Parts: sequence; C-alpha cells; structure tokens
Amino acid sequence: MMSVRIIVVLAVLTGVTGSPNVMIKPEADMSAHPNSVPETVEETEIFGQQNVPVLVGEEAEEDVMATGELNPNHYPAQRAAKVVQHYLNTRYGSPYRLFGLQRVNSGNAEDVADSGRKYQLEVTVQEIIGNTTEKCSAEVLFPRGERQGSAQVQASSWEELLKNDTEAQEEALYQEYKMNQSLVTAQNLPDSYGHIEPDMKPLWHLGFVASSFVMLNESTENTLYNMAQVANVTQLPTENDQLKFDYHILLHEMVSQEIIHWKLLFTWSPPEGVKVLQMEQLPHCHHCEKPPNTN
Ligand SMILES: *[C@@H]1O[C@H](CO)[C@@H](O)[C@H](O)[C@H]1NC(C)=O
Ligand SMILES: *[C@@H]1O[C@H](CO)[C@@H](O)[C@H](O)[C@H]1NC(C)=O
Ligand SMILES: *[C@@H]1O[C@H](CO)[C@@H](O)[C@H](O)[C@H]1NC(C)=O
Ligand SMILES: *[C@@H]1O[C@H](CO)[C@@H](O)[C@H](O)[C@H]1NC(C)=O
Ligand SMILES: *[C@@H]1O[C@H](CO)[C@@H](O)[C@H](O)[C@H]1NC(C)=O
Repeated sequence: MMSVRIIVVLAVLTGVTGSPNVMIKPEADMSAHPNSVPETVEETEIFGQQNVPVLVGEEAEEDVMATGELNPNHYPAQRAAKVVQHYLNTRYGSPYRLFGLQRVNSGNAEDVADSGRKYQLEVTVQEIIGNTTEKCSAEVLFPRGERQGSAQVQASSWEELLKNDTEAQEEALYQEYKMNQSLVTAQNLPDSYGHIEPDMKPLWHLGFVASSFVMLNESTENTLYNMAQVANVTQLPTENDQLKFDYHILLHEMVSQEIIHWKLLFTWSPPEGVKVLQMEQLPHCHHCEKPPNTN
C-alpha cells in the first residue's frame, strides 16, 4: 500500500504541468514557475511523457561505462553534471542563492588508473533566484576501489554567478529568525499543489541547499538525485549565533525512481553559510516496507 506521504509527493510531482522537451533544465523552469518544485518539469517528463521511458531504456544499454565523448543529453553526462550543482550549493548556496544545472554542453569520461572515473564537463549553471547563467568547466571524479568516498569536484568560471550581492537580504533574514519570539516550523514545502507561501520560501531554499550536502555525498555515476520536498522543518534554539534547523526532506532518485527520506540537522548564518551537523537516511517508506516473511 502506498503511504499518504508518497501519494502527496506524486501529487506534487504530477500536479504541475511542465513545458515539453525540457528534461535537462528543471531549475530553469523554477524561475518561470516560482511556486513549483524545481524538479517538477523533469519529474513531469518522467511520469507524463512518452519519449522518456524510451530514452531511459536506450540509456540502460549505453549506461554505466560510457567512455570518451558523451552525449550531453544522456544520463551519464547528466548524472555527473548534477553533482556540480550540488557542489556549488554546498559551497556557495544560501537562502538567496541557489544553483541549478541548466544544461550540459559537452562531456567526456575516462577511467583513471586505480582511482576511479573522471568526467570533464562543460555545463551551463544557473543561479536560480537571480536567474543568471554562466558557462563553466568542471571535473568530477567518482572514486573507485580503495579510494571509496564521495565524488570530488572542481569547477571554474562560475564566479560571475556570485556577483549579485545577497548579503543584506541574508542579514535581514537572519535577524528576523534570530529575534523572533517563536521558533518557526513548517510542513510540506511545497504543498501538493506545488505552492509555497512567500514567507516560507527561505526555508525551502535552505532545505534545497542543505539537501545538496546529502546529494553530493550520496551521488555516484549511477544516480541522479533531485530535491523533491521539505516534509517538515523545525527551528531549534540558536546556538553560538548560528540558526539551527531540523529538516525532514524527500529526495527523488531518478534512476531507481525511489523517494528517499533524510533527516538533516544543520546551522546557518550569513558569514558561516549552511553547515550540516548530522544527516541520517530514514527507512524510505514507513507504511510499505516489505513484510518480514518475503525473504
Ligand atoms: C530568465 O532569464 C532568461 C534569459 O535571460 C529569460 O528568457 C527568462 O524569461 C527569465 N526567467 C524569468 C522567470 O525571469
Ligand atoms: C539579485 O538577487 C535578488 C534576490 O536575492 C533578486 O531578486 C535579483 O533579481 C537578483 N539580481 C540579479 C541581477 O541577479
Ligand atoms: C515570527 O513569529 C510570528 C509569530 O510569533 C510568526 O507569525 C512569524 O512567521 C515568525 N517569523 C519568522 C521569520 O520566524
Ligand atoms: C558521507 O558518506 C559517507 C559514506 O559514503 C559517510 O561515511 C560520511 O559520514 C558521510 N558524510 C556525512 C557528513 O555524513
Ligand atoms: C516530518 O515528516 C515526516 C514525513 O512525513 C514524518 O514522519 C515526521 O513525523 C514529521 N515530523 C514532524 C516533527 O512533524
């Protein structure tokens, strides 16, 4: 039986109609539909478009070991490029600065003896809130064998995207949350209609940035993670001038089509940015776990 939770998410994912043929630029459309889940377009494609299952099937064959020049629109290049988005969010994301992958312009993959596989990518990165884009070069190394661990990313030429000074807005938000009598809580960002109340947007943005820490850490050559929803958020008492939050987030892994739940404890302040204190994956569906007798 599907849990209510999953149904809600599917409602979110299917409830907003995206424009056709934009599988590659989900975030680009967040600005076009500011109230929708940024990945909605991509999700809608997966759930609603004829061509995507074909594409997925096609790609299952070329899939994992694609080497040499890559088709920029296919999964191997897209999956590696998505990691660049997460990397930028973990380093420079804020409630007023969110990075998205708009497009992969070219990509190349090669095995690196003993250490893993390296992707060289030319991507167009978007700063979602200011709606600015920049072409940048990136290298993503997925470690293998002895050198287990998260993907390593290097990126250049994206600095132009930091030009928009968000300091004053961040400071105002920080003071507001810090000074407020009550600690904030929220559920379902966005709700099942894809809507987020304007005063809850910063919380969604913070969740978006924080989830990139999980996605950066969890991504492999075989995954494509998107942030789907903040199930709930609880502000905790401020410590050492850092706002502190407990988030329950839902990620959508596009390859397995799984919705994955994570609990995240993190702090934020304008000078320190987002710092994740704890992240924990939760059993992915409380109401539909296999009964113990199926093994
Ligand atoms: C974002 O920028 C692009 C190109 O400059 C423009 O075509 C698009 O309409 C903008 N979107 C929004 C929501 O302003
Ligand atoms: C700068 O950022 C603010 C929000 O943080 C946004 O409203 C504005 O459009 C941005 N301007 C540019 C040029 O990116
Ligand atoms: C501040 O507190 C009031 C109620 O006490 C609440 O309505 C408002 O959303 C809070 N604002 C923030 C930013 O927490
Ligand atoms: C990232 O994932 C690795 C396992 O792949 C884990 O050992 C590590 O603790 C994670 N990092 C954080 C900050 O949780
Ligand atoms: C947050 O949402 C998750 C998933 O819907 C739920 O299991 C959990 O109990 C909620 N926590 C709070 C504090 O509302």
